[in-house]
Amino acid sequence: MLDFTDHVVIVTGAGRGIGRAYARLLADRGAAVVVNDLGGDTDGHHASGGPAASVVAEIEAAGGTAVASADSVADPEGAAAIVATAVARFGRVDAVINNAGIYRLGRFEDLALEVFQDFIDVHYTGSLLVSRAAWPHLTASGHGRIVNTVSAAMTGQPDMAHYGAAKGAIYGLTRNLAIAGAPHGVKVNAVAPGAGTRMLRLAAPALPPGTVEFMDEHMPPEMVAPMGAYLAHADCAVTGEVFNAAGGHVSRMVVVNTPGIHDPKLTPEIVAERIDEITALDDAQPAELPLPA
Ligand code: NAI
Repeated sequence: MLDFTDHVVIVTGAGRGIGRAYARLLADRGAAVVVNDLGGDTDGHHASGGPAASVVAEIEAAGGTAVASADSVADPEGAAAIVATAVARFGRVDAVINNAGIYRLGRFEDLALEVFQDFIDVHYTGSLLVSRAAWPHLTASGHGRIVNTVSAAMTGQPDMAHYGAAKGAIYGLTRNLAIAGAPHGVKVNAVAPGAGTRMLRLAAPALPPGTVEFMDEHMPPEMVAPMGAYLAHADCAVTGEVFNAAGGHVSRMVVVNTPGIHDPKLTPEIVAERIDEITALDDAQPAELPLPA
């Protein structure tokens, strides 16, 4: 039984969807949870304290311990306030689940530069700011954990350049913070979730017909939460990894290097001639994570 008694966990974007499922599961397992949510609509506007407060009420009604925060992860004061809430109320931070996110579809040609910036601000900068504010507490914890949230869109999906690129930045953050955290016992991983949420409904035009209805019925957020809970626990045995988690299916996502070719007299023509060999996946190896010994 992975128990979280005496653990303090911050979950961002926990007023709804996958974040709410993380918060409920962790509180059920004994964690004191900071339920953070800006409470806005899917593109981040019209903030409201309601969603965070209502998840705290659900947790307390079930006998758990939680505190609400309606701060934005995307600005430094908001991120500092989220961590300050954890420390003021519970005295420590053992894990951060960076889950807050915004969403919309858009053709690359049509998206204003400000949209790219908004997606970077909430997804990447938000994950960075909360992790950075919590870092001294995570290193002091002895088993500090960061669980970031990426997406299959990171590997490329139609009309998601703004969203997928911001998630790609979180992948780089995850890998590099895993290295920075290793000397302190801090483990940093990411989940690429799939669940029927309000966000997914906006993705419907980019997905095969019927996907949203199927996910609503068979892939609730509660089926993602166990993966994040494991990665947030002191017993987590991995760092720098990304896990797909959807509908009870869990798998590892890796960036690989192929054996490729070596030719000291390389020319563009040789690349052209041997492109199939260069890209062949036979004997490909996951990119190495150079953890300090
Ligand atoms: P959701 O829209 O139900 O929940 C996201 C929550 O984040 C919302 O309650 C929202 O108010 C909050 N939020 C937005 N901006 C914030 C900010 N600046 N500060 C604090 N909170 C903020 O969406 P869902 O589906 O639960 O998404 C959770 C995470 O999972 C997101 O990072 C999303 O990108 C990711 N994801 C979800 C997938 C899915 O299938 N639902 C697929 C791939 C990734």
